[in-house]
Amino acid sequence: MTLLVTGGAGFIGANFVLDWIAATGEPVVTLDKLTYAGNLANLAALEGDARHAFVRGDIGDGEAVAALLARHRPRAIVHFAAESHVDRSIHGPGDFIQTNVVGTFRLLEAARAHWESLAGGERDAFRFLHVSTDEVYGSLGEADPAFTERTAYAPNSPYSASKAGSDHLVRAWHHTYGLPVLTTNCSNNYGPFQFPEKLVPLMIANALEGRPLPVYGDGRQVRDWLYVGDHCAAIRAVLAGGRPGEVYNVGGSAERRNLEVVHALCDALQALRPREGGYRGLVRFVADRPGHDRRYAIDATKIRAELGWAPAETFESGLARTVRWYLANEAWVAQVRSGEYRRWIETHYGERK
Ligand code: NAD
Ligand code: TYD
Repeated sequence: MTLLVTGGAGFIGANFVLDWIAATGEPVVTLDKLTYAGNLANLAALEGDARHAFVRGDIGDGEAVAALLARHRPRAIVHFAAESHVDRSIHGPGDFIQTNVVGTFRLLEAARAHWESLAGGERDAFRFLHVSTDEVYGSLGEADPAFTERTAYAPNSPYSASKAGSDHLVRAWHHTYGLPVLTTNCSNNYGPFQFPEKLVPLMIANALEGRPLPVYGDGRQVRDWLYVGDHCAAIRAVLAGGRPGEVYNVGGSAERRNLEVVHALCDALQALRPREGGYRGLVRFVADRPGHDRRYAIDATKIRAELGWAPAETFESGLARTVRWYLANEAWVAQVRSGEYRRWIETHYGERK
Protein backbone atom coordinates (compact mmCIF):
# COMPACT_ATOMS: atom_id res chain seq x y z
CA MET A 1 0.00 0.00 0.00
CA THR A 2 1.52 3.29 -1.15
CA LEU A 3 0.27 6.71 -2.21
CA LEU A 4 1.78 8.79 -4.99
CA VAL A 5 1.49 12.46 -4.07
CA THR A 6 2.25 15.09 -6.73
CA GLY A 7 3.29 18.55 -5.55
CA GLY A 8 4.10 17.19 -2.09
CA ALA A 9 6.90 19.69 -1.52
CA GLY A 10 4.49 22.63 -1.80
CA PHE A 11 2.30 24.17 0.88
CA ILE A 12 -0.77 21.90 1.03
CA GLY A 13 1.01 18.84 -0.39
CA ALA A 14 3.69 18.92 2.32
CA ASN A 15 1.09 19.34 5.06
CA PHE A 16 -0.79 16.39 3.55
CA VAL A 17 2.26 14.10 3.33
CA LEU A 18 3.32 14.89 6.92
CA ASP A 19 -0.23 14.41 8.28
CA TRP A 20 -0.80 11.26 6.20
CA ILE A 21 2.29 9.41 7.37
CA ALA A 22 1.69 10.50 10.98
CA ALA A 23 -1.98 9.42 10.86
CA THR A 24 -1.77 6.20 8.85
CA GLY A 25 1.87 5.10 8.63
CA GLU A 26 1.22 4.23 4.97
CA PRO A 27 4.20 4.97 2.69
CA VAL A 28 4.19 7.95 0.33
CA VAL A 29 6.13 8.64 -2.83
CA THR A 30 6.29 12.39 -3.44
CA LEU A 31 6.72 13.58 -7.04
CA ASP A 32 7.59 17.27 -7.27
CA LYS A 33 9.36 19.44 -9.82
CA LEU A 34 10.64 21.80 -7.09
CA THR A 35 9.59 25.02 -8.78
CA TYR A 36 10.05 28.25 -6.78
CA ALA A 37 7.08 27.06 -4.66
CA GLY A 38 8.44 23.58 -3.89
CA ASN A 39 10.76 23.28 -0.93
CA LEU A 40 12.30 20.11 0.45
CA ALA A 41 12.68 21.84 3.81
CA ASN A 42 8.90 21.39 4.13
CA LEU A 43 9.47 17.63 4.31
CA ALA A 44 12.61 17.76 6.47
CA ALA A 45 10.82 15.92 9.31
CA LEU A 46 10.69 12.84 7.03
CA GLU A 47 14.39 12.72 6.23
CA GLY A 48 15.66 9.15 6.71
CA ASP A 49 12.09 7.87 7.19
CA ALA A 50 11.70 4.66 5.16
CA ARG A 51 7.99 5.40 4.68
CA HIS A 52 8.77 8.39 2.45
CA ALA A 53 10.51 8.61 -0.92
CA PHE A 54 11.09 11.87 -2.76
CA VAL A 55 11.40 12.00 -6.54
CA ARG A 56 12.16 15.20 -8.38
CA GLY A 57 10.22 15.26 -11.64
CA ASP A 58 7.55 16.87 -13.77
CA ILE A 59 3.97 15.56 -13.89
CA GLY A 60 4.12 16.39 -17.61
CA ASP A 61 6.87 13.81 -18.17
CA GLY A 62 4.69 10.82 -19.08
CA GLU A 63 7.54 8.33 -19.28
CA ALA A 64 8.97 9.23 -15.88
CA VAL A 65 5.51 9.06 -14.29
CA ALA A 66 4.81 5.69 -15.95
CA ALA A 67 8.10 4.32 -14.60
CA LEU A 68 7.25 5.56 -11.10
CA LEU A 69 3.81 3.96 -11.23
CA ALA A 70 5.24 0.63 -12.45
CA ARG A 71 7.88 0.66 -9.73
CA HIS A 72 5.75 1.66 -6.71
CA ARG A 73 2.30 0.42 -7.78
CA PRO A 74 0.47 3.05 -5.68
CA ARG A 75 -3.12 2.36 -4.71
CA ALA A 76 -3.93 6.04 -5.28
CA ILE A 77 -2.58 9.25 -6.77
CA VAL A 78 -3.26 12.46 -4.86
CA HIS A 79 -2.67 15.30 -7.30
CA PHE A 80 -1.66 18.65 -5.79
CA ALA A 81 1.03 19.72 -8.28
CA ALA A 82 0.10 23.01 -9.92
CA GLU A 83 1.07 26.58 -10.50
CA SER A 84 -1.08 28.13 -7.80
CA HIS A 85 -0.73 31.92 -7.51
CA VAL A 86 -3.29 34.17 -9.24
CA ASP A 87 -0.97 37.21 -9.43
CA ARG A 88 1.76 35.15 -11.11
CA SER A 89 -0.81 33.80 -13.59
CA ILE A 90 -1.61 37.39 -14.56
CA HIS A 91 2.07 38.21 -15.14
CA GLY A 92 2.81 34.94 -17.01
CA PRO A 93 0.02 32.46 -17.78
CA GLY A 94 2.15 30.03 -19.87
CA ASP A 95 3.40 27.88 -16.98
CA PHE A 96 -0.17 27.59 -15.69
CA ILE A 97 -1.42 26.12 -18.95
CA GLN A 98 1.63 23.85 -19.19
CA THR A 99 1.48 22.36 -15.70
CA ASN A 100 -2.18 22.65 -14.74
CA VAL A 101 -3.71 21.64 -18.08
CA VAL A 102 -1.08 19.77 -20.12
CA GLY A 103 0.62 18.32 -17.02
CA THR A 104 -2.68 17.04 -15.62
CA PHE A 105 -3.52 15.54 -19.02
CA ARG A 106 -0.22 13.63 -19.12
CA LEU A 107 -0.63 12.51 -15.52
CA LEU A 108 -4.15 11.27 -16.29
CA GLU A 109 -2.88 9.31 -19.27
CA ALA A 110 -0.14 7.66 -17.19
CA ALA A 111 -2.66 6.93 -14.43
CA ARG A 112 -5.11 5.41 -16.91
CA ALA A 113 -2.48 3.10 -18.44
CA HIS A 114 -1.45 2.01 -14.93
CA TRP A 115 -5.04 1.45 -13.79
CA GLU A 116 -5.88 -0.52 -16.95
CA SER A 117 -2.93 -2.81 -16.22
CA LEU A 118 -4.31 -3.68 -12.79
CA ALA A 119 -6.70 -6.52 -12.11
CA GLY A 120 -9.29 -7.55 -9.53
CA GLY A 121 -9.21 -5.88 -6.13
CA GLU A 122 -6.23 -3.67 -6.97
CA ARG A 123 -8.07 -2.22 -9.97
CA ASP A 124 -11.31 -1.71 -8.00
CA ALA A 125 -9.51 0.05 -5.15
CA PHE A 126 -7.43 2.45 -7.30
CA ARG A 127 -8.25 6.17 -7.01
CA PHE A 128 -7.07 9.38 -8.71
CA LEU A 129 -7.81 12.30 -6.39
CA HIS A 130 -7.59 15.70 -8.05
CA VAL A 131 -7.17 18.69 -5.74
CA SER A 132 -8.82 21.80 -7.13
CA THR A 133 -10.10 25.18 -6.07
CA ASP A 134 -13.34 27.08 -5.51
CA GLU A 135 -12.02 29.74 -7.92
CA VAL A 136 -13.28 27.69 -10.89
CA TYR A 137 -16.81 28.82 -9.98
CA GLY A 138 -16.03 32.52 -10.53
CA SER A 139 -17.04 35.43 -8.35
CA LEU A 140 -20.08 35.85 -6.07
CA GLY A 141 -22.06 38.98 -5.23
CA GLU A 142 -22.52 39.93 -1.55
CA ALA A 143 -25.91 38.23 -1.25
CA ASP A 144 -25.41 35.22 -3.56
CA PRO A 145 -25.64 31.71 -2.13
CA ALA A 146 -22.31 29.89 -1.68
CA PHE A 147 -20.86 27.61 -4.39
CA THR A 148 -22.24 24.07 -4.48
CA GLU A 149 -20.96 21.17 -6.59
CA ARG A 150 -23.68 22.08 -9.13
CA THR A 151 -22.62 25.73 -9.57
CA ALA A 152 -21.69 26.42 -13.21
CA TYR A 153 -17.99 26.98 -13.92
CA ALA A 154 -17.06 30.63 -14.64
CA PRO A 155 -13.30 31.01 -14.09
CA ASN A 156 -11.98 34.59 -14.35
CA SER A 157 -8.18 34.43 -13.98
CA PRO A 158 -5.61 32.49 -16.00
CA TYR A 159 -5.03 30.44 -12.81
CA SER A 160 -8.68 29.54 -12.28
CA ALA A 161 -9.21 28.91 -16.01
CA SER A 162 -6.28 26.46 -16.03
CA LYS A 163 -7.63 24.70 -12.93
CA ALA A 164 -11.10 24.56 -14.52
CA GLY A 165 -9.50 22.98 -17.61
CA SER A 166 -7.85 20.34 -15.44
CA ASP A 167 -11.13 19.63 -13.62
CA HIS A 168 -12.87 19.05 -16.96
CA LEU A 169 -10.15 16.65 -18.09
CA VAL A 170 -10.43 14.69 -14.84
CA ARG A 171 -14.20 14.49 -15.23
CA ALA A 172 -13.88 13.34 -18.86
CA TRP A 173 -11.32 10.63 -18.01
CA HIS A 174 -13.91 9.17 -15.64
CA HIS A 175 -16.85 9.53 -17.99
CA THR A 176 -15.04 8.23 -21.09
CA TYR A 177 -12.51 5.73 -19.74
CA GLY A 178 -13.99 4.86 -16.34
CA LEU A 179 -10.89 6.05 -14.44
CA PRO A 180 -11.97 6.14 -10.76
CA VAL A 181 -11.42 9.84 -10.07
CA LEU A 182 -12.41 12.08 -7.16
CA THR A 183 -12.27 15.89 -7.30
CA THR A 184 -12.18 18.30 -4.38
CA ASN A 185 -12.77 22.04 -4.83
CA CYS A 186 -11.47 23.84 -1.79
CA SER A 187 -11.55 27.43 -0.55
CA ASN A 188 -8.52 29.53 0.48
CA ASN A 189 -6.11 27.66 2.76
CA TYR A 190 -3.69 29.08 5.31
CA GLY A 191 -1.27 27.49 7.78
CA PRO A 192 2.34 26.27 8.14
CA PHE A 193 4.65 26.14 5.09
CA GLN A 194 2.57 28.52 2.94
CA PHE A 195 4.83 30.40 0.54
CA PRO A 196 4.90 34.09 1.55
CA GLU A 197 3.51 35.34 -1.76
CA LYS A 198 -0.03 34.50 -0.56
CA LEU A 199 -2.04 36.89 1.62
CA VAL A 200 -1.64 35.40 5.11
CA PRO A 201 2.09 34.55 5.16
CA LEU A 202 2.99 37.68 3.14
CA MET A 203 1.31 39.90 5.72
CA ILE A 204 2.97 38.08 8.64
CA ALA A 205 6.42 38.26 7.04
CA ASN A 206 6.07 41.94 6.08
CA ALA A 207 4.67 42.91 9.49
CA LEU A 208 7.58 41.27 11.30
CA GLU A 209 10.00 43.31 9.17
CA GLY A 210 7.98 46.52 9.73
CA ARG A 211 7.25 46.73 6.00
CA PRO A 212 3.97 47.95 4.41
CA LEU A 213 1.02 45.53 4.31
CA PRO A 214 -0.27 45.91 0.70
CA VAL A 215 -4.06 45.54 0.56
CA TYR A 216 -5.44 45.40 -3.00
CA GLY A 217 -8.26 47.79 -3.93
CA ASP A 218 -10.70 48.52 -1.10
CA GLY A 219 -9.81 45.37 0.87
CA ARG A 220 -13.48 44.36 0.98
CA GLN A 221 -13.10 41.19 -1.13
CA VAL A 222 -14.29 38.09 0.68
CA ARG A 223 -12.58 34.70 0.87
CA ASP A 224 -13.76 31.58 2.78
CA TRP A 225 -10.73 30.62 4.91
CA LEU A 226 -9.82 27.05 5.83
CA TYR A 227 -6.94 25.87 8.01
CA VAL A 228 -4.70 23.59 5.93
CA GLY A 229 -4.91 20.68 8.41
CA ASP A 230 -8.68 20.66 7.94
CA HIS A 231 -8.22 20.52 4.17
CA CYS A 232 -5.88 17.54 4.58
CA ALA A 233 -8.48 15.80 6.76
CA ALA A 234 -11.10 16.43 4.07
CA ILE A 235 -8.86 14.86 1.41
CA ARG A 236 -8.32 11.80 3.63
CA ALA A 237 -12.11 11.50 4.05
CA VAL A 238 -12.74 11.79 0.30
CA LEU A 239 -10.01 9.26 -0.50
CA ALA A 240 -11.47 6.80 2.01
CA GLY A 241 -15.17 7.20 1.30
CA GLY A 242 -15.76 9.43 -1.72
CA ARG A 243 -17.71 7.98 -4.63
CA PRO A 244 -15.71 7.76 -7.89
CA GLY A 245 -16.70 10.43 -10.38
CA GLU A 246 -18.01 12.72 -7.64
CA VAL A 247 -16.96 16.26 -6.74
CA TYR A 248 -16.71 17.44 -3.12
CA ASN A 249 -16.60 21.12 -2.16
CA VAL A 250 -14.45 21.84 0.89
CA GLY A 251 -14.65 25.09 2.85
CA GLY A 252 -14.26 26.53 6.32
CA SER A 253 -17.58 28.42 6.48
CA ALA A 254 -15.36 31.30 7.57
CA GLU A 255 -15.97 34.18 5.19
CA ARG A 256 -13.85 37.23 5.96
CA ARG A 257 -13.01 40.44 4.11
CA ASN A 258 -9.32 40.79 3.26
CA LEU A 259 -8.96 43.83 5.50
CA GLU A 260 -10.50 41.87 8.40
CA VAL A 261 -7.94 39.10 7.82
CA VAL A 262 -5.06 41.58 7.80
CA HIS A 263 -6.33 43.29 10.97
CA ALA A 264 -6.78 39.91 12.70
CA LEU A 265 -3.17 39.04 11.81
CA CYS A 266 -1.94 42.39 13.13
CA ASP A 267 -3.77 41.84 16.40
CA ALA A 268 -2.55 38.24 16.79
CA LEU A 269 1.03 39.41 16.18
CA GLN A 270 0.63 42.28 18.61
CA ALA A 271 -0.42 39.81 21.34
CA LEU A 272 2.61 37.58 20.76
CA ARG A 273 5.30 40.03 19.64
CA PRO A 274 4.21 43.55 20.58
CA ARG A 275 5.36 46.39 18.34
CA GLU A 276 5.31 50.01 19.46
CA GLY A 277 2.16 51.54 18.00
CA GLY A 278 0.95 48.12 16.83
CA TYR A 279 0.96 46.60 13.33
CA ARG A 280 -2.30 47.96 11.89
CA GLY A 281 -0.62 51.24 10.94
CA LEU A 282 1.46 49.35 8.35
CA VAL A 283 -1.60 48.73 6.14
CA ARG A 284 -1.39 50.43 2.71
CA PHE A 285 -4.11 50.31 0.06
CA VAL A 286 -2.50 49.60 -3.33
CA ALA A 287 -3.73 49.19 -6.93
CA ASP A 288 -6.29 46.41 -7.28
CA ARG A 289 -5.58 43.06 -8.96
CA PRO A 290 -6.88 43.08 -12.58
CA GLY A 291 -10.11 41.06 -12.79
CA HIS A 292 -10.09 40.63 -8.99
CA ASP A 293 -12.87 38.22 -7.92
CA ARG A 294 -15.04 39.89 -5.29
CA ARG A 295 -16.23 36.98 -3.19
CA TYR A 296 -15.77 33.20 -2.85
CA ALA A 297 -17.83 31.06 -0.48
CA ILE A 298 -18.22 27.29 -0.28
CA ASP A 299 -21.30 25.31 0.63
CA ALA A 300 -19.74 22.19 2.17
CA THR A 301 -23.04 20.42 2.91
CA LYS A 302 -22.22 17.41 0.70
CA ILE A 303 -18.89 16.43 2.27
CA ARG A 304 -20.25 17.12 5.76
CA ALA A 305 -23.37 14.96 5.21
CA GLU A 306 -21.87 12.18 3.08
CA LEU A 307 -18.45 11.78 4.67
CA GLY A 308 -18.91 13.28 8.15
CA TRP A 309 -16.10 15.80 7.65
CA ALA A 310 -16.10 19.13 9.49
CA PRO A 311 -13.29 21.60 10.15
CA ALA A 312 -11.67 21.27 13.57
CA GLU A 313 -10.32 24.84 13.61
CA THR A 314 -12.26 28.08 13.69
CA PHE A 315 -10.83 31.03 11.78
CA GLU A 316 -9.55 32.50 15.05
CA SER A 317 -7.93 29.29 16.38
CA GLY A 318 -6.41 28.44 12.97
CA LEU A 319 -5.00 31.93 12.53
CA ALA A 320 -3.49 31.90 16.02
CA ARG A 321 -1.80 28.53 15.29
CA THR A 322 -0.50 29.90 12.00
CA VAL A 323 0.95 33.06 13.53
CA ARG A 324 2.66 30.98 16.25
CA TRP A 325 4.13 28.70 13.56
CA TYR A 326 5.56 31.60 11.55
CA LEU A 327 7.04 33.14 14.70
CA ALA A 328 8.68 29.83 15.56
CA ASN A 329 9.96 29.31 12.01
CA GLU A 330 11.50 32.61 10.98
CA ALA A 331 14.49 30.76 9.50
CA TRP A 332 12.15 28.95 7.10
CA VAL A 333 10.67 32.28 6.00
CA ALA A 334 14.13 33.83 5.58
CA GLN A 335 15.24 30.86 3.46
CA VAL A 336 12.32 31.06 1.03
CA ARG A 337 12.41 34.87 0.84
CA SER A 338 15.57 34.93 -1.20
CA GLY A 339 16.62 34.91 -4.87
CA GLU A 340 13.68 34.42 -7.16
CA TYR A 341 11.26 35.52 -4.44
CA ARG A 342 12.88 38.94 -4.11
CA ARG A 343 12.65 39.48 -7.86
CA TRP A 344 8.94 38.65 -7.74
CA ILE A 345 8.27 41.12 -4.93
CA GLU A 346 10.18 43.87 -6.73
CA THR A 347 8.36 43.39 -10.05
CA HIS A 348 4.91 42.73 -8.65
CA TYR A 349 4.68 45.31 -5.88
CA GLY A 350 7.06 47.78 -7.58
CA GLU A 351 4.46 48.55 -10.23
CA ARG A 352 1.59 48.70 -7.68
CA LYS A 353 1.18 52.23 -6.43
P1 NAD B 1 2.05 25.49 -4.02
O1 NAD B 1 2.29 26.44 -5.15
O2 NAD B 1 2.49 25.84 -2.65
O3 NAD B 1 2.72 24.07 -4.37
C1 NAD B 1 2.67 23.51 -5.64
C2 NAD B 1 3.71 22.39 -5.71
O4 NAD B 1 3.63 21.77 -7.00
C3 NAD B 1 5.15 22.89 -5.54
O5 NAD B 1 5.85 22.04 -4.66
C4 NAD B 1 5.73 22.80 -6.95
O6 NAD B 1 7.14 22.55 -6.98
C5 NAD B 1 4.95 21.62 -7.52
N1 NAD B 1 4.88 21.65 -8.99
C6 NAD B 1 4.56 22.71 -9.78
N2 NAD B 1 4.61 22.34 -11.08
C7 NAD B 1 4.92 21.02 -11.11
C8 NAD B 1 5.09 20.07 -12.15
N3 NAD B 1 4.94 20.43 -13.43
N4 NAD B 1 5.40 18.80 -11.82
C9 NAD B 1 5.57 18.44 -10.53
N5 NAD B 1 5.43 19.30 -9.50
C10 NAD B 1 5.11 20.58 -9.78
O7 NAD B 1 0.48 25.20 -4.08
P2 NAD B 1 -0.55 24.85 -2.90
O8 NAD B 1 -1.08 26.11 -2.34
O9 NAD B 1 0.05 23.84 -2.00
O10 NAD B 1 -1.71 24.18 -3.73
C11 NAD B 1 -1.72 22.78 -3.99
C12 NAD B 1 -2.95 22.43 -4.82
O11 NAD B 1 -4.13 22.83 -4.13
C13 NAD B 1 -2.99 23.16 -6.17
O12 NAD B 1 -3.48 22.25 -7.14
C14 NAD B 1 -3.97 24.30 -5.95
O13 NAD B 1 -4.63 24.65 -7.15
C15 NAD B 1 -4.93 23.67 -4.96
N6 NAD B 1 -5.60 24.61 -4.03
C16 NAD B 1 -4.89 25.54 -3.31
C17 NAD B 1 -5.55 26.39 -2.42
C18 NAD B 1 -4.80 27.39 -1.57
O14 NAD B 1 -5.43 28.19 -0.89
N7 NAD B 1 -3.47 27.37 -1.54
C19 NAD B 1 -6.94 26.30 -2.28
C20 NAD B 1 -7.65 25.34 -3.05
C21 NAD B 1 -6.97 24.50 -3.91
P1 TYD C 1 -4.22 35.14 -2.41
O1 TYD C 1 -3.60 34.69 -1.12
O2 TYD C 1 -3.33 35.48 -3.55
O3 TYD C 1 -5.30 34.02 -2.81
P2 TYD C 1 -6.45 34.04 -3.98
O4 TYD C 1 -6.19 35.14 -4.92
O5 TYD C 1 -6.21 32.71 -4.60
O6 TYD C 1 -7.75 34.17 -3.27
O7 TYD C 1 -5.10 36.41 -2.10
C1 TYD C 1 -6.17 36.36 -1.17
C2 TYD C 1 -6.87 37.70 -1.23
O8 TYD C 1 -5.98 38.71 -0.74
C3 TYD C 1 -7.24 38.12 -2.64
O9 TYD C 1 -8.50 38.77 -2.61
C4 TYD C 1 -6.14 39.09 -3.04
C5 TYD C 1 -5.76 39.73 -1.72
N1 TYD C 1 -4.35 40.15 -1.60
C6 TYD C 1 -4.04 41.46 -1.17
O10 TYD C 1 -4.94 42.28 -0.90
N2 TYD C 1 -2.72 41.82 -1.07
C7 TYD C 1 -1.71 40.97 -1.37
O11 TYD C 1 -0.51 41.38 -1.29
C8 TYD C 1 -2.02 39.63 -1.79
C9 TYD C 1 -0.94 38.64 -2.11
C10 TYD C 1 -3.36 39.26 -1.87
